[in-house]
Amino acid sequence: MFVETCIAPVNIALIKYWGKRDEDLILPINDSLSMTLSTDEMCAKTTAAASDKFEKNTMWLNGEEVPFEENPRVMRCIQELKRLASKKPSPKFPVEWKLRICSKNNFPTAAGLASSAAGYACLVYTLACLYGVDQEELTSIARQGSGSACRSLYGGFVKWQMGSKDDGSDSIAVSVAPATHWPEMRVLILVVNDSKKKTASTKGMQRAVVTSDLIKHRAEQCVPKRISEITAAIEAKDFEKFAEITMKDSNQFHAIALDTYPPCVYMNDVSHAISEFVHAFNEAAGSTKVAYTFDAGPNACLYLLEEHVSQVLEAVQRSFPSDCNSNEYLKGIPVKQNSNNSEILLKDSKPYGQNLLKYVIHTKIGTGPKLLSKDESLISTDGLPL
Ligand code: DP6
Repeated sequence: MFVETCIAPVNIALIKYWGKRDEDLILPINDSLSMTLSTDEMCAKTTAAASDKFEKNTMWLNGEEVPFEENPRVMRCIQELKRLASKKPSPKFPVEWKLRICSKNNFPTAAGLASSAAGYACLVYTLACLYGVDQEELTSIARQGSGSACRSLYGGFVKWQMGSKDDGSDSIAVSVAPATHWPEMRVLILVVNDSKKKTASTKGMQRAVVTSDLIKHRAEQCVPKRISEITAAIEAKDFEKFAEITMKDSNQFHAIALDTYPPCVYMNDVSHAISEFVHAFNEAAGSTKVAYTFDAGPNACLYLLEEHVSQVLEAVQRSFPSDCNSNEYLKGIPVKQNSNNSEILLKDSKPYGQNLLKYVIHTKIGTGPKLLSKDESLISTDGLPL
């Protein structure tokens, strides 16, 4: 039995991908740009095994067996990797061998956080290690699992170039800057209490392309300018500019969601309260110290620099108080609370309400996927999930 285990990170878009020009190949109508998060707090982990003893392909996701031969996106990723493997002069093992794949997320899927990007990036990266194929074409394969997954194959800041070819061969992710370029970059994910079912990204963007007029304006006029401006802001480590572009793009993406017919409503009242809070905080601070972005759900992702984490978190806790003890409220990197009263901002403003947030995850910029050692396997030596 040949077996490999890898982890892959989550990425959060600063300039959103929204809208496809080809549904099968997953080709977007605009470039997008994201930051990769550290795998210490959130990641997907996958073990893939191949053996001549396996009679059928099997996959387990978060402990449950899932049918995957009916899933065209998974099958396309596997086929593409097999195609690369069979081109090798001496493959490690016959590509016809059946596979067993076991995958887990180390963060609660119930949190409604984008898990498909990390999941597909991890699947593709692990299979590439298993078949021993080189890493060159991997982003265009991961893209065919879930568009945003192509950006999770690199660390730091990553751009997905929409490309122009019909076969999608130039629709790939490229590194804009590694994590070491801006290591002070931190993220607070504010997980909002919410039970409402949301329109999935795939459906939402499909409907937007057909019905929204704004989406064309964004893709043609706004995104190209924003991509070049945010790239320059990242290069210069200009946080204020970076923050402004990020917030404007998030707002425009949700404006397009509302311009879709019937509309897609992803942000809720708590999300809007968070956005208001961020602007009030920056106003009180006298400069832009924190930026928000929202994906296809109500949770907020706040970008900020390490030096401001304790001050921002203090203000978040005052504005969004919770009955949870601080261990349950704050997950991820521990934060030393600053007791210096003069640094507390918004201390006199009224809280938005009790328990509006489930919890907060504190994480930071991170690197790309990693190959793990054999002891980290999710599949036992007899080929069963552990
Ligand atoms: C709002 O990559 O999940 O997170 O390609 O249909 O699988 P599919 O969509 P997906 O869409 C992500 C949308 C987004 C913005 C982004 O990550 O760029």
